[in-house]
Amino acid sequence: MQKKVIVTGVAGFIGSNLAMHLLNRGYSVVGIDNLVSGTIENVDARVDFHKTDICNKEVYSLLQGADAVFHLAAKNSLTDCLANPLDAAQINAVGTLNILEAARQAKVGKFIYADTSAEYEGIHEFPTREDKVRPIGVYAASKHGGCTFCESYRDLYSMNLTIVRYFNVYGPAQDWRRVVPPVMSAFIIRMLRGEAPIIYGTGEKRRDFIYVDDVNDFHLTLLKDPRSNGGIYNVGTGVNFSINEIYRLIEELLQTGLRPIYKADLPGEAQVTLADISSGRKLGWEPKIDIHEGLRRSVQYIKDRVLQVVQTNQVKTA
Ligand SMILES: NC(=O)c1ccc[n+]([C@@H]2O[C@H](COP(=O)([O-])OP(=O)(O)OC[C@H]3O[C@@H](n4cnc5c(N)ncnc54)[C@H](O)[C@@H]3O)[C@@H](O)[C@H]2O)c1
Repeated sequence: MQKKVIVTGVAGFIGSNLAMHLLNRGYSVVGIDNLVSGTIENVDARVDFHKTDICNKEVYSLLQGADAVFHLAAKNSLTDCLANPLDAAQINAVGTLNILEAARQAKVGKFIYADTSAEYEGIHEFPTREDKVRPIGVYAASKHGGCTFCESYRDLYSMNLTIVRYFNVYGPAQDWRRVVPPVMSAFIIRMLRGEAPIIYGTGEKRRDFIYVDDVNDFHLTLLKDPRSNGGIYNVGTGVNFSINEIYRLIEELLQTGLRPIYKADLPGEAQVTLADISSGRKLGWEPKIDIHEGLRRSVQYIKDRVLQVVQTNQVKTA
């Protein structure tokens, strides 16, 4: 029988990619999103889509009969979380608890929680392993709250729970509409429009970037491999690049001649992220898309799908 998978945050970047990946492999997908930042255009037409909030009681009936839940919906802009800490806690911690409780009542077979490398903000050992966390900012603390409820439900009710800590995921459908959009999309959009990219700080912060298709593959591994039950996994590549290097790689592809504009640093961002991915590798998973290929595909997607929307709406990009 076709397996039913719930994806919260299905209209967002990672959720919409995940839904498409699952549908293409024969799963049925029920998608939940309140469209606060995601868009309906991101959602594959085959998704059984419900526009609702993860804090809403409506989710209890939606989770009935589900084989697995990927809980991705979150407030995840760092600046937004700093400006609205109570909302961040309500959505990322309490909202997660609501989905967990709905999953417990529905006896869902597997629950996967989308955690973040921001959990490691106060840890300065690289590459970073999964066993120690030290969240500092409001976003990290609120996601940690959600993670703590997951661990509580795992221990209290023997729920089958897996936690994934994404590093910097990039690729098609990244949310370029944010006030401070993710760096890859921001650079590519501006440079394709003939505008200089903006770098906050010196550009020497280093990030472990992972292409979204590699994340999709890992998600599928988690669904299929029972060794992942109860585990916590970093989802990165084990290689990092500085923001200046990313600019140079995109410039190599686009040949614009544009130089970056440097602005004051953004508060609350880690200097370095670098994942130890040996736990994921033990499941036979390996990221396959290198930075050159990932950026090439991202440029193509933005040319095909984003640029016209930006130009038509005269959207300002940071
Ligand atoms: N993108 C990354 O690099 C990254 C890194 C680390 C962790 N994560 C985590 O992965 C998950 C997905 O991230 P993303 O990049 O796809 O983000 P995104 O902002 O593109 O998607 C999040 C989706 O959740 C929805 N949403 C927000 N609040 C909601 C609510 N209260 N009820 C229902 N829906 C709601 C939004 O409308 C959006 O569609 C998040 O949990 C995030 O914390 C992402």
